[in-house]
Amino acid sequence: MKKILVTGGAGFIGSHVVRLFVTKYSNHHIVNVDKLTYAGNLENLKDIENASNYSFVKGDITDAAFVDKLFDEHDFAAVVHLAAESHVDRSISNPLDFVLTNVVGTVNLLNAAKKIWHCSKDKPLPQNKIFYHVSTDEVYGSLGETGYFLETTPYDPQSPYSASKASSDHFVRAYFNTFNLPVVLSNCSNNYGSHQFPEKLIPLFIKNIRDKKSLPVYGDGKYTRDWLFVEDHATAIDTILHNGKLGETYNIGGFNEWQNINLIKLLCKVMDKKLGRAEGESEQLITYIKDRPGHDRRYAIDASKLNQSLGWKPSVTFEEGLERTVEWYLENETWLNNVTSGNYQKYYAAQYETAE
Ligand code: NAD
Ligand code: DAU
Repeated sequence: MKKILVTGGAGFIGSHVVRLFVTKYSNHHIVNVDKLTYAGNLENLKDIENASNYSFVKGDITDAAFVDKLFDEHDFAAVVHLAAESHVDRSISNPLDFVLTNVVGTVNLLNAAKKIWHCSKDKPLPQNKIFYHVSTDEVYGSLGETGYFLETTPYDPQSPYSASKASSDHFVRAYFNTFNLPVVLSNCSNNYGSHQFPEKLIPLFIKNIRDKKSLPVYGDGKYTRDWLFVEDHATAIDTILHNGKLGETYNIGGFNEWQNINLIKLLCKVMDKKLGRAEGESEQLITYIKDRPGHDRRYAIDASKLNQSLGWKPSVTFEEGLERTVEWYLENETWLNNVTSGNYQKYYAAQYETAE
């Protein structure tokens, strides 16, 4: 039975990837390694936790001895690496955590894979092995009003988060070039959907609208992001893992750009309808606050390489995805209340209560 390691599988995107693989590939064994930070939650995988082709290992990828032992114990054919510190605002208050997990953690995994797969420039690329690094469009920096990020766009990271992801991408490519490690990379736009920690825009605003709390819009609200439904990101990862060309990078996006303020108004409208409130009621909660330092103005992904070479395209429209997302959070109040107890309260106070 082929073994696939997924790192960060208890997080938002990781849990969707694990669920897809466990249900789709009964002939593969999926090992999920996660440190279970504030963002990792085994409740995200309750529905598949007893599947015979799934196991969970709690561990920290910054611990090289732990990572080496894990690779010695399992004969992984594939690694899908998602574990990361992922929130830009937290990277501004604590950059070093991002260096440790996103850079050092990635290099620990690369070293373990290189050793166990006996990779070297003197030997051909190993057959039937693959190290898949999941990255972000933020490595490309910020766009003006026009243009798109291509796989060839020069890196220009602006935040400590994107700098750490850019660094990890460079290490992954360096291991391909220097050691013949069989790698593939993807850089994706903003994801939304179920099980996302409510520090990110969409789940945070769903929670605040539910609770009739203010909606903290950074700066003028005219920042633009390209949004992709998380289950479509998981199918893109599946497509690239199985059909992508080694050494290549694929951009993944939703062909779906929104200015923050327009997205927020749409979300208010959807929520007012679902909650039986008068139209326009939740928009009253919008509050403009101090901007995020170094805030990237616009991201927009050109995902046509992935579409043309491997045939992937998003399957869920934004209207449908947003409605499914809102329904999920409203139907899973226990999940939302559990993840926002304890330390979350301290984080929220430090991030927002002085900024309004
Ligand atoms: P997340 O923060 O929801 O989940 C990250 C997971 O990694 C958590 O389960 C956490 O416990 C785990 N983790 C963190 N540090 C760890 C460590 N030292 N050892 C082991 N596990 C650790 O993140 P996400 O939004 O699901 O993002 C997953 C990946 O996708 C990241 O690499 C991120 O950069 C990338 N990405 C995210 C988006 C997005 O919109 N969320 C878009 C493009 C790319
Ligand atoms: O583009 C991909 C990236 O998308 C991923 O690599 C990151 O892991 C992920 O967090 C996300 O980064 P963003 O910074 O774009 O996402 P966030 O949800 O934090 O913010 C989206 C936009 O909304 C951004 O312009 C900032 C703004 N915003 C966000 C929050 C949390 C607000 O105006 N108010 C807020 O309270």
